[in-house]
Amino acid sequence: MQLENKVVIITGAGSGIGAASASLLAKHKALVIISDINIDSAQKVADQINTAGGKAFAFKADVSKFEEVELLISQTVKDHGKIDVMVNNAGIGGENQKRTAEHTLADWDNVIAVNQTGVFYCMKVVLKQMMKQGHGNIINIASLAGLKPSGYNLSYSASKYAVVGMTKSAALEYGRKNIRINAVCPGYTESALLDKLLASRPDMRETLKRLIPMDRFGEATEIAEAVAWLASDSSKYMTGQTLTLDGGTSLL
Ligand SMILES: NC(=O)c1ccc[n+]([C@@H]2O[C@H](COP(=O)([O-])OP(=O)(O)OC[C@H]3O[C@@H](n4cnc5c(N)ncnc54)[C@H](O)[C@@H]3O)[C@@H](O)[C@H]2O)c1
Repeated sequence: MQLENKVVIITGAGSGIGAASASLLAKHKALVIISDINIDSAQKVADQINTAGGKAFAFKADVSKFEEVELLISQTVKDHGKIDVMVNNAGIGGENQKRTAEHTLADWDNVIAVNQTGVFYCMKVVLKQMMKQGHGNIINIASLAGLKPSGYNLSYSASKYAVVGMTKSAALEYGRKNIRINAVCPGYTESALLDKLLASRPDMRETLKRLIPMDRFGEATEIAEAVAWLASDSSKYMTGQTLTLDGGTSLL
């Protein structure tokens, strides 16, 4: 996989899938900007990568704030000259286990602001830069919840269907501009976000595991492999697609 000297931004890279993707890309010699709303966790991931011999820089940005996204992109270009790959991974789970009529307005606003509008902001700003440099590659982290109904979490589901839709629409627009845009759709994957969902009910771990033909949750490192492949030129004829890693859950 060719990733050497690629400049990659990963949002929400202070934890889980984003952190695992950052470590793997850095192992393949990409220069990685570890962006997160939580600068302490971002700095920890960057320190680990640099100690292991990779190249990483932490950058604090809340993807739901347009000015912070603009600063993340402009500072990266100032410091490193280009952005080859942008991984829009930052996301929140929101409140779980509520029927639609009980869904709170605050939860709707929060989840849509981060998971949906955040991806729009990041694509809007980075696409301008990618057009200027004449190439680019965007990877949006959607979810299995963006491909099939999961129930009891309307804002999350709406936001992830939107990410899949935005990925396909934008890919259509930028195919001729040498810019690829794809989405990764993980199923249940071990992370802080999944831990929160599992904590909502004592039997939740077993209930969810029964939905997975491979009988286990995914690991963040397994999702990172797909991110690395999409980030590399090995996938260079692929755009506007979703790559699902879910242990077979979508088959049911
Ligand atoms: N874990 C799963 O089961 C699963 C399944 C499908 C999709 N996903 C998606 O994968 C992505 C990563 O999730 P994860 O499971 O690694 O969760 P995680 O909670 O471990 O990591 C999410 C990271 O995003 C950061 N973040 C939250 N709000 C932010 C904001 N406004 N701006 C910038 N950063 C912000 C958090 O600080 C955290 O570091 C999310 O988009 C999530 O929806 C996760």
